[in-house]
Amino acid sequence: MTLPPEHPWWVADTANSRLVRAMRAQSVDRPPVWFMRQAGRSLPEYREVRAGIPMLDTCLDPSLAAEITLQPVRRHGVDAAIFFSDIVVPVKCAGVDVVITPGVGPVVADPFAEVTDLDRLPQPAPEMFDAVAEGVRQTVAQLGSTPLIGFAGAPFTVASYLIEGGPSRDLPKTKAMMIRQPEMFAGLLGKLADLASEFLRVQITAGASAMQLFDSWVGALPARLYRQHVLPHTMRVFEQVADLGVPRVHFGVGANHLASDMAGAGCDVLGVDFRVDLDAVPTAIRSQLPLQGNLDPAVLLTDADTIEAEVRRVLAAGRALRGHVFNLGHGVLPDTPADNVTAAVRAVQEFGESFEGVA
Ligand code: CP3
Repeated sequence: MTLPPEHPWWVADTANSRLVRAMRAQSVDRPPVWFMRQAGRSLPEYREVRAGIPMLDTCLDPSLAAEITLQPVRRHGVDAAIFFSDIVVPVKCAGVDVVITPGVGPVVADPFAEVTDLDRLPQPAPEMFDAVAEGVRQTVAQLGSTPLIGFAGAPFTVASYLIEGGPSRDLPKTKAMMIRQPEMFAGLLGKLADLASEFLRVQITAGASAMQLFDSWVGALPARLYRQHVLPHTMRVFEQVADLGVPRVHFGVGANHLASDMAGAGCDVLGVDFRVDLDAVPTAIRSQLPLQGNLDPAVLLTDADTIEAEVRRVLAAGRALRGHVFNLGHGVLPDTPADNVTAAVRAVQEFGESFEGVA
């Protein structure tokens, strides 16, 4: 299967957008720029439309999700939109009782502990995500030639919320289940891989021109456990969307010890967090894939001159790459002044230089 004829890839030529070209290691006039969590609390217009509406209700309201997705594109002039949703939306659509508590994160009423809990996750079907498909269609209708990025949480990170019942720093129950009940753990990650794949397929088919898989908390694992218990499921997600042909980004936080395994999972671009400089990423990875990153989000809490200097440093490190997608090394922090985000975008536009490309 390939993208439908009405897809922006064909009708708005997003296939030749700066974002998609950089992600495919093709020549660009300068690196594209977008930011993880570019929609959200840093924008007054976001706080206004979200007032009094629970986070997951917002995600599943197509016109609200489309409006919030477009806000940072209008305000900052970024080179891509990322669809406004959350990594727990697929399990919510599958019937799991989950809410997002402000200032905390996703909270699961009845955490997964026994093998019988696996029955709570049905086989995914595209109809589960009708509201998401409609939100994506409304978004791309207004985006024109600016590409939309679809996303999903990777099976491990989503599983960690289902098992812990909420955010956790050390993931003790998740690791205990992985080691003591490996079959249940594999069953859970297998189901979440299928759910993530369907969620991504729906977004891409409805209009997304690139995708990102967030494995935010996988840095908690040593490479040995990652390879044995996580990587096969992540690979399955990338495989299950490969036929659609849009570029696929793989991103983890504090996971630089896993970088070569993550780079080999079937992605086209590796997202790098702020803990390692782009030019210090191992050559074997840099020569294989374009990288995305990695300005420290804390820099956006400073001032215009500091932001410009730091953006120029990241751009310079990016020159040594096969391709560079400018981003933060993690999401925009909630208290970031919106004007500082705009200043970073302007600095990339002003100081980013052309890439020849290798493809
Ligand atoms: O602009 C974008 O990047 C798209 C929107 C997006 C959200 N969540 C919106 C959101 C994306 C890509 C996510 C992914 C996500 N959600 C991740 C992976 C990325 C990462 O940060 O590592 C994770 C781990 C989650 C789980 C989650 N959802 C957390 C930790 C929180 C923060 C809770 C809080 O209030 O501090 C959420 C809620 C959430 N997701 C918000 C937004 C804008 C805040 C909701 C609000 O405004 O109240």
